[in-house]
Amino acid sequence: MIEERAGDGYDSTSMPEIPTPVSAVEEAPSPSEWRDDDICLTVSNLCLYYGDNEALADISMRVARQRVTALIGPSGCGKSTLLRCFNRMNDLIDDVRITGEIELNGMEIHSTSVDIAQLRRRVGMVFQRPNPFPKSIYENVAYGLRLQGRLPKSEVDDRVEWALKNAALWEEVSDRLNESALDMSGGQQQRLVIARAIAVQPDVLLLDEPASALDPISTLKIEELIHQLKQDYTILIVTHNMQQAARVSDYTGFLYLGKLVEYDTTNIIFTNPTEKQTEDYITGRYG
Ligand SMILES: Nc1ncnc2c1ncn2[C@@H]1O[C@H](COP(=O)(O)OP(=O)(O)OP(=O)(O)O)[C@@H](O)[C@H]1O
Ligand SMILES: [Mg+2]
Repeated sequence: MIEERAGDGYDSTSMPEIPTPVSAVEEAPSPSEWRDDDICLTVSNLCLYYGDNEALADISMRVARQRVTALIGPSGCGKSTLLRCFNRMNDLIDDVRITGEIELNGMEIHSTSVDIAQLRRRVGMVFQRPNPFPKSIYENVAYGLRLQGRLPKSEVDDRVEWALKNAALWEEVSDRLNESALDMSGGQQQRLVIARAIAVQPDVLLLDEPASALDPISTLKIEELIHQLKQDYTILIVTHNMQQAARVSDYTGFLYLGKLVEYDTTNIIFTNPTEKQTEDYITGRYG
């Protein structure tokens, strides 16, 4: 059996339906209209220092459940650093100091009672360069499931198939599951690591420039996938591609020099931002 996730009423035996494409994108409500149960993550006064360097300066924001939130901003402004805060990946870096709070579904993730391995299962992460393990396609997806304890083979098989279908990869690999993941194309590898991340059914998916190393067709597949996955997951994506942020996200935060300059619906950020700095960035005046 997979261990139950505490306190969120999650039934580990039932898998969400495979999402079907939505035909019409409904307008995302303004953050000021969110109800409490629309909110998955709440960041309060978050500061992060690498040694003496302040990389995140007093960030407060909320992230809506089952929506896509994009983080944009010039290189070095703190996007990856902020993303890594959500599953405490910065803990792995020496000489990092963090103040402030992050709540995931009401649970303060820095609390001493939090099991970090479990937090990272609930908050999965995919990096810019696909990083499959030197194992078979099947074993890559089964990896996180195996860490959860002994599962019957039939259940692992079902979950691997489910994750590969949800990552829009099943049709391309179903007849070669035992072949090495390293022989796949870059776009397939990126969908494979997304399958690996969703196989353990996280609540949140963090995507750090997931398509920046891919060709336009693979990029489109990843974008379609993100669009489908948000029916089951809360997604945070870092991207340098303004068109991509505008296409895939419901909400956008603009970061500059470690500060969250502006955060609103993607529609507002791209068509009618309040801050001049945001407008300058969106229109390509710097960055
Ligand atoms: N491991 C680290 N140790 C020390 N400083 C770091 C570390 N990682 C990032 N920084 C610094 O923190 C700041 C923010 O970096 P971060 O990688 O979060 O930026 P970013 O917005 O993701 O940039 P990019 O668009 O280039 O990926 C930068 O000044 C960077 O030099
Ligand atoms: Mg980065």
